[in-house]
Amino acid sequence: MTSVTKPITTDDVVFTKATPAQRELSWRINGASWAKPLTIDAHVQREETLAASAQATSTETGGRTYWVMHRKGDPLDIVSAVDSVGKAALVVDGNGLRTGRAYGVGSVYTAPQYRKQGMAGFMLQRLQEAMDADSEFSVLYSDIGTKFYGGFGWAAHPSLQVSVYLEGSGGAAPEKPEDVRFLSRGEMKEYCEKDVAELTERMGELVPEEGRTHVAFLPTFEQLDWQFLRDELHVRAVKGRELENCGAATADGSAWVYWHHDLGKNMLMVHRVVARSPEAVRSLLWAAVAEAAAWGLERVVAWNPEGVVEDGARLLAEEDGVRVRFEFREDSRRPCLRLKGGADGDVVWEDNYFYAWC
Ligand SMILES: CC(C)(COP(=O)(O)OP(=O)(O)OC[C@H]1O[C@@H](n2cnc3c(N)ncnc32)[C@H](O)[C@@H]1OP(=O)(O)O)[C@@H](O)C(=O)NCCC(=O)NCCS
Repeated sequence: MTSVTKPITTDDVVFTKATPAQRELSWRINGASWAKPLTIDAHVQREETLAASAQATSTETGGRTYWVMHRKGDPLDIVSAVDSVGKAALVVDGNGLRTGRAYGVGSVYTAPQYRKQGMAGFMLQRLQEAMDADSEFSVLYSDIGTKFYGGFGWAAHPSLQVSVYLEGSGGAAPEKPEDVRFLSRGEMKEYCEKDVAELTERMGELVPEEGRTHVAFLPTFEQLDWQFLRDELHVRAVKGRELENCGAATADGSAWVYWHHDLGKNMLMVHRVVARSPEAVRSLLWAAVAEAAAWGLERVVAWNPEGVVEDGARLLAEEDGVRVRFEFREDSRRPCLRLKGGADGDVVWEDNYFYAWC
């Protein structure tokens, strides 16, 4: 899209929480970047439904706040927009373990005619002031590299991922193993609760090195269910098909995986794998591959595979002849984290997986 630049300075704008009309307008504007494969109207409708979800309306975590920056005197001349969502998080430092709030920042956007004049930067600084008042840290997932956000204190964190490809996989047919069953959205709550308890226990056992802080987002049902709802709306709008499987678990319920169907990027995106053995991961990944095949998707992707997840993926490659690729994600959704107040620090982001994505 070509657009004529409209000169503007920070004196010309107001940063504020969006009214419903401003919110809708900003979705219509940012749909140019994020609606596809949905139409703008379907994108707006999806965002409207998500804005009413338990995650977005939570009084406990603060819910999702939609911000806009508009020209003074014209509330509907949207210059930039962004949203921030409060989430339950864990922090472990020299003082031990504490729970607190952290923010996910999403949909950073400047209308094309106002770009390259410092508007997004100014808006992000105002947003930081608002978030710093009641949180431990904030994260965002950059599609524009790490330099711009780094300049505002959001430091890049690892973006390794593993892709399991359906094609060229040594002829192995994508079938769900018998010892694994698919999970529906309605079944997820108990797994999320178990997961929160286990992660809290694991974080509580950490003994950080001097000066180091470990942080994690809690994989709460509220957070995950927002992802499942988003998936449900997405596949219904694009494929006219109802969502059935949001994940899979081993028969004994001791290991599980959550995912969503990214029809735009042609992949089944894993939110989180909880397992104690590479063999369990191997079974869960086979279930994911079977689900990807049922939707005609090209691959299954999981972020920051480590420990048993890495070993399980390697089993798939070595024992089952599946094409598996480990790579750094350079161009999209690079996780970036900033401690409150922009404090310097050696931060380890535990369980930096897709479940925490905005
Ligand atoms: C990214 C965006 C919000 C920047 O808005 P802006 O008001 O022009 O930003 P500022 O004027 O404060 O800063 C401009 C800087 O942003 C960075 N930037 C913008 N687009 C970029 C891109 N595609 N890749 C890398 N850096 C980019 C650059 O550092 C740029 O500085 P430069 O012009 O000297 O290179 C705007 O271009 C936009 O809305 N893009 C489409 C949506 C999008 O990609 N949002 C970000 C999602 S993570």
